Amino acid sequence: MALYSEKVMDHFMHPRNVGVIENADGIGEVGNAKCGDIMKMYLKIDDGVITDVKFETFGCASAIASSSMATELIKGQRVEEAMALTNKAVAEALDGLPDYKMHCSVLAEEAIQSALEDYRSKTGNPIEKPEKPSA
Ligand code: FES
Repeated sequence: MALYSEKVMDHFMHPRNVGVIENADGIGEVGNAKCGDIMKMYLKIDDGVITDVKFETFGCASAIASSSMATELIKGQRVEEAMALTNKAVAEALDGLPDYKMHCSVLAEEAIQSALEDYRSKTGNPIEKPEKPSA
């Protein structure tokens, strides 16, 4: 079996939503101290809805694919839904990541949460995290 799924390869080779949003409503930057990779997320938010999202990732193929997929997943979502996005959901949407690469998808979850925290602190708008569905 190939190391990476076709979706991972597609999002790595043709990442969606790469770039910067000027005057973003929320900006989050996170890094992984072990590998040194860095991810930055920019959100445009209108009335509690994420209308645009862009990212810059200096990192491995899995980190780039994860950021690309994560931006696609949260575009158009309400801030509460985006806050609840997990790295597992990102990896699943990519048809899986090798176990030792799962930590790369954590960067995407953390970058989005950090950008949403930035939005919350700038605007004072609360973001309720929806209850996690019981397993
Ligand atoms: Fe650093 Fe993938 S190895 S995020």
